[in-house]
Amino acid sequence: MKKRALMIGISLSAIAAGCASVATGPQAINWDKVPATKVALFYPGQSSYQWLRSEAHAGAAKETARGDACTSCHDDPKEEQRQGAKILSGKHPLEPHAAAIKGKNGHIDMTVQAAYDDKNAYLRFQYKTHNPNHPGNDYPGYRFDGKEWKAFGGMRLNKNVLAGKTATVYENRVNIMLDDGKVPGFAQQGCWLTCHDGERDMQKEPTKDQVEANALMKAIKKSDVRKFIPGTRTNPMDWSTGKPLEEIAKMKANGEFLELMQWRAHRSDKVGGADDGFVLEYRNFDAGKNHFNSNMDSKTKLPKFMFDQAKAGTKAYTAGDYGKKEMILIKGANAVPFDPNAGWKEGDILPQYILSAEDAAGSAADNKALSEWKNGVQTVVFIRPLGLANADDKALKPGGVYNVGFAVHDDNMTGRGHHVSYTKTLGIGAKADITAVKLN
Ligand code: HEC
Repeated sequence: MKKRALMIGISLSAIAAGCASVATGPQAINWDKVPATKVALFYPGQSSYQWLRSEAHAGAAKETARGDACTSCHDDPKEEQRQGAKILSGKHPLEPHAAAIKGKNGHIDMTVQAAYDDKNAYLRFQYKTHNPNHPGNDYPGYRFDGKEWKAFGGMRLNKNVLAGKTATVYENRVNIMLDDGKVPGFAQQGCWLTCHDGERDMQKEPTKDQVEANALMKAIKKSDVRKFIPGTRTNPMDWSTGKPLEEIAKMKANGEFLELMQWRAHRSDKVGGADDGFVLEYRNFDAGKNHFNSNMDSKTKLPKFMFDQAKAGTKAYTAGDYGKKEMILIKGANAVPFDPNAGWKEGDILPQYILSAEDAAGSAADNKALSEWKNGVQTVVFIRPLGLANADDKALKPGGVYNVGFAVHDDNMTGRGHHVSYTKTLGIGAKADITAVKLN
């Protein structure tokens, strides 16, 4: 799907405030007339599939293992607030780095609205960012040390950040995980089905060598463990027991996977996109090409692009620019091919990714997004075409009801450092926790 024309010249004011119909498409939606649902998200720490089924889970191991809904017990109106604060208290085993991230907010109150027309579903999210002074669209870069370009910066829980060796920097994200009823347990236990010991920054994280020696990981050419659904393992308690690829392919053909859509403040926002991915044996991107691509040439070990001095006023930036300037490299807008002889100085930094709406293609480029960050409030509208027929997509259809879980990566966090919601239902013109209303 290529609907780039939609993105050009959109007035963002209509996203924040409901506004009279001045145009067609998502920018014309009067959100004041669309019902709003409050959804609370909390900081989950290392509450993995395995921890939830262990004795540490306060006598709830058996109930969780047999598939009870999390909210059959966690049902207080302020439950998420209580849980997030407790995990970050410094006294809870689920967050070993609580002291290092002191001041982190335990929960986020998000407003969710949904609408649809003949072509698309529109999902709108609003939440207050923890840092009121920055839109959270910085991202780690490559820093020139006088000889080589080396990775610079990381999220709050990054080992080098915790050790004080590099800067704290990461992009904000808003994510939707969606199931159409085909993944057993998702309706009851949501995103927690995909969160396992052994994944990045979780307990019992294996070494790169251990991962690369694993049969499934070798077959899919991965060197770390990421989200997966339990059915892809012979023993769901153990990431290393991957099923053969043929069995996993059968699951995919039967629709036993989760949709994962991610809006990224650095890597997709400026080109009007949101990632389209899916969770099966790994957190995969859909077929085709993403809105963002690596800015590192793996052969020459040099960046591929630099800023266009004439347009960006500089060819690179430095560590001191983080939090102050917008440092996003966009093909065709402010980027030119990297020149190794441009007189690079120690401390020069270039982005790790280059963005392009034109290069995005295929199923990976299905989702579009609009956003606005104003007075510390982030608004994101996902635009998801209805009825997608790709093998790696969940088709949204009028009348359909889906199970959804939301995550927000806020204030320099990625991986498990996000906030997560319990499962909600989303109905496209059908009654659910969040009902998408039909637009005229
Ligand atoms: C049978 C009831 C029950 C079920 C089902 C259940 N839990 Fe719990 N959970 C508890 C109890 C009780 C505690 C301990 C609360 C306390 O110590 O105040 C707890 C603790 C937790 C904690 C640690 C923070 C806290 O609140 O103490 C997390 C995180 C958590 N549960 C997540 C989940 C998730 C996610 C699910 C679903 C996959 C789930 N729980 C299912 C009863 C349950």
